[in-house]
Amino acid sequence: MSNLEKYVIIGGNKLSGTVRISGGKNSVLTILPACLLSKGVCTIHDVPRLSDVYVMKEVLECLGANVVFTGSTMVVDASMINVIEVPDTLTRRMRASNLVMGPLLSRFKEVKIAYPGGCSIGSRPMDQHLNGMELLGAQVIERHGYIEAKAVKLAGEEICLDFPSVGATENLMMAASMADGVTVIRNAAREPEIVDLQNFINSMGARIRGAGTDVIKIEGVRELGSAEHTIIPDRIEAATFIIMAAITQGDVSVEGAIPEHLEAVIAKLRAAGVKIVDLKEGVRVSGQKRYKCVDIKTMPFPGFPTDVQPQLMAMMALSEGTGIITETVFENRYKHVDEFRRMGANIRVEGRIAVVKGVKSLSGAYIEASDLRAGAALVTAGLAAEGATVVGDVEHIDRGYERMEQKLRSLGAQIFRTNGSGVRK
Ligand code: EPZ
Repeated sequence: MSNLEKYVIIGGNKLSGTVRISGGKNSVLTILPACLLSKGVCTIHDVPRLSDVYVMKEVLECLGANVVFTGSTMVVDASMINVIEVPDTLTRRMRASNLVMGPLLSRFKEVKIAYPGGCSIGSRPMDQHLNGMELLGAQVIERHGYIEAKAVKLAGEEICLDFPSVGATENLMMAASMADGVTVIRNAAREPEIVDLQNFINSMGARIRGAGTDVIKIEGVRELGSAEHTIIPDRIEAATFIIMAAITQGDVSVEGAIPEHLEAVIAKLRAAGVKIVDLKEGVRVSGQKRYKCVDIKTMPFPGFPTDVQPQLMAMMALSEGTGIITETVFENRYKHVDEFRRMGANIRVEGRIAVVKGVKSLSGAYIEASDLRAGAALVTAGLAAEGATVVGDVEHIDRGYERMEQKLRSLGAQIFRTNGSGVRK
């Protein structure tokens, strides 16, 4: 996708109708590498068509897997894997490519990846991943921009993470799945995507218990076979559409949203005055004229998700009063603030704290996305701003949102994609 791609949004329309949430990006980006554990063929349903998913498909293919992506089903045949190295041309494009380490180390006792790129929200080191692999018996060498991990054998161990890293928990679950003996991961991440991964690997024949809690127990098995799995809905996309419905004072049913995956988000939005009702198939959002600013502190699940912080900030920018946002997960996740200021928002940032003073209205402006959630937040603000907003660098948004403009147009938004030489539906 060229970086000329932009969204043009004419603000002021109230969103209404029903939107169906796609399969979860952060679930599929760990379940696809998990297919490398299998000597058979894995079939994954509800795979969203996202640029990050296409990159992960390239990573699996560069390792020798055969991957067929038809509709929203991906069939991965990892039986003939013959390469254990991922070049920087791929790892720089997506940090989650580091999730091939656990499965390749587990199955081949060897893996070599170029250091994954950091990104605009932080440096994103991998010490938690690598310390855990060393505890399992791997020798880890970092040199010439590559990370190599090798082991004669992997033996189950007690691993206590310094903090509940999502990627480290996922990599170590996969690395321990065929180790000799039992591994216990303490202070594990509790995200729903970890539970989805446990269910998938267990359907291949693994013996993992405890995902969703902070203690995960993995009993190593000899080998893992074929499996079929349906990806859980994307809770961050669901939260994004809930906030878009709220900020436009709309009336939207968000189908596929799972309330238990969104408790912290729904609690904060209700405290701000958003009417949210649980439905059998999702949630229904009834927007109000104005909301109260709320204080949020981003935390690992089940706390308020860092991936929804920029979108909630957009809503707070137009709310009554002042709200304090504390970003505890990433060290540099306020790049969207300057863009909101161009629209008239009153936000001040001091380190990890952002002070948002609500204003009566935002005005459309030319703004630029710096990462996918910031991009989604800029679209959110544009939907409610007066006049036209142009959001540049929308390829960031394409990484994590499937057909965002089509879904928004089906809800009545005036949003179009242009590559500078005209509007494209
Ligand atoms: C996952 O990233 C998600 N990505 C992120 O979503 C999400 O923001 C993050 O978890 C937190 O929920 C995927 O699942 C593909 P972490 P991950 O390891 O695993 C530091 C999105 O927008 N850290 O929990 O990389 C790290 O720098 C993306 O969809 C270390 O210091 O997150 C960060 O500050 C953005 N050492 C914090 O921990 C390590 O070894 C949390 O990172 C690992 C992480």
